[in-house]
Amino acid sequence: MKITMIGTGYVGLVTGTCFAEFGHHVTCVDKIEEKIAKLRDGIIPIYEPGLDALVRKNVNEKRLRFTTDLEAAVPDADAVFIAVGTPTSRRGDGYADLTYIYEASREIAPHLSGYTVIVDKSTVPVGTARQVHRIISEQNPDADFDVASNPEFLREGAAISDFMRPDRVVIGVDNERAEQVLRDIYKPLYLIETPIVCTTIETAELTKYAANAFLAVKISFINEIANVCEAVGADITALAKAIGMDGRIGSKFLHPGPGYGGSCFPKDTLALMRIVQEYGENVHIVQAAVEVNAAQKARMVKKIRDSLGGSEAGKTIGVLGLTFKPETDDMRESPSLSILPALFEKGAAIKAHDPKGIEEAKKYMPEGIQYVENAYEAAADADALVLMTEWNQYRALDMERIRDAMRQPVFVDLRNVYDPETMKNLGFKYTGVGRK
Ligand code: UGA
Repeated sequence: MKITMIGTGYVGLVTGTCFAEFGHHVTCVDKIEEKIAKLRDGIIPIYEPGLDALVRKNVNEKRLRFTTDLEAAVPDADAVFIAVGTPTSRRGDGYADLTYIYEASREIAPHLSGYTVIVDKSTVPVGTARQVHRIISEQNPDADFDVASNPEFLREGAAISDFMRPDRVVIGVDNERAEQVLRDIYKPLYLIETPIVCTTIETAELTKYAANAFLAVKISFINEIANVCEAVGADITALAKAIGMDGRIGSKFLHPGPGYGGSCFPKDTLALMRIVQEYGENVHIVQAAVEVNAAQKARMVKKIRDSLGGSEAGKTIGVLGLTFKPETDDMRESPSLSILPALFEKGAAIKAHDPKGIEEAKKYMPEGIQYVENAYEAAADADALVLMTEWNQYRALDMERIRDAMRQPVFVDLRNVYDPETMKNLGFKYTGVGRK
């Protein structure tokens, strides 16, 4: 099949590349010339494990190409995927900004030729596919096309394996012709018996928000229970293991931490709250998850402050990890972006390390934060060392070396990576999340 992908961000680039790997012919389009020029030279603008090799392979095998020329990329396509950004609107009302989606629709419309399925891949409010349909029909009344919704469920850092071995594929269509095109595109997944949930467009659009909101709720739930554990002297690790063994609950997404971040959960929970308001409905549980998440980040500031004896002023804090999760350079909505500035403003010196995120972090962190080459440099002369993001390289540190490098052996483990008893025996004053 011939596929055109509009937008080469995390979603568009991974999806386009994986479709090429399936054997389809994919043209990825982006307006940013510099980005396209780099992609043509094999330079990937983001860090996503395995993506660079997969891009190179499919470019070499002539199934994947990059262009800024939308006009030339659309006419031949069997399907045009829209994978442009839908950030939270600058109006501050929580609504997703659909400017780029509508702009892409207007630009695609005049170049459609033969039957084409326009697929919304970006996370968009219910009703967006119908709007896309309206815009294209108005611009090009003769066009032979359908609009479909095909939400993505990729996690950053594991996006390629999530794409190649998904739990399910959701297709929202309103006729069999469009359904068949999407089924053909995903045919390689039939071999591994991936369930395809074929539904209405509105259901597919809402499914994405419901999935992300549920996961955000699950994280906020376990964070709140972790706080209760701290109050009553219980242990969240054993508790999460025990409740997760119940198949109805499931063991995943029960890791407490500094709160969820990233480009999806914070944005999508707010957007869902905004969408339902328009229909006079409520999502109280999602709203509570958002509030708990904000409180969790504030709680982490207090946790670090308490570990320093009640004040961070004049103290040096080493930080391990800045990105919102490991295996990405993405800093969007990372908990570190609210926790570290709060400490810095109150007079703490901060020395931070991250394997991939430092360049991105510099764009958002206050000036004056120091960035170092490795975990041991972050620990050197620090009054406390905070494990913020659970990168693998922080999981097996030489803790005696860390302890000896620090001014005082205070370790604040916001991801519960280390064993409290072992850390205590090594002479650390250890604080985790939801642990005694
Ligand atoms: C999330 C969803 O997991 C994907 O299914 C979805 O496709 C994607 O959003 C999206 O909408 O595009 P992502 O944001 O990449 O993926 O990352 P997650 O692995 O879900 O983690 C999100 C945040 O939750 C991170 O800050 C992570 O540290 C936190 N988290 C996750 C926890 O604090 N505890 C957990 O148990 C799991």
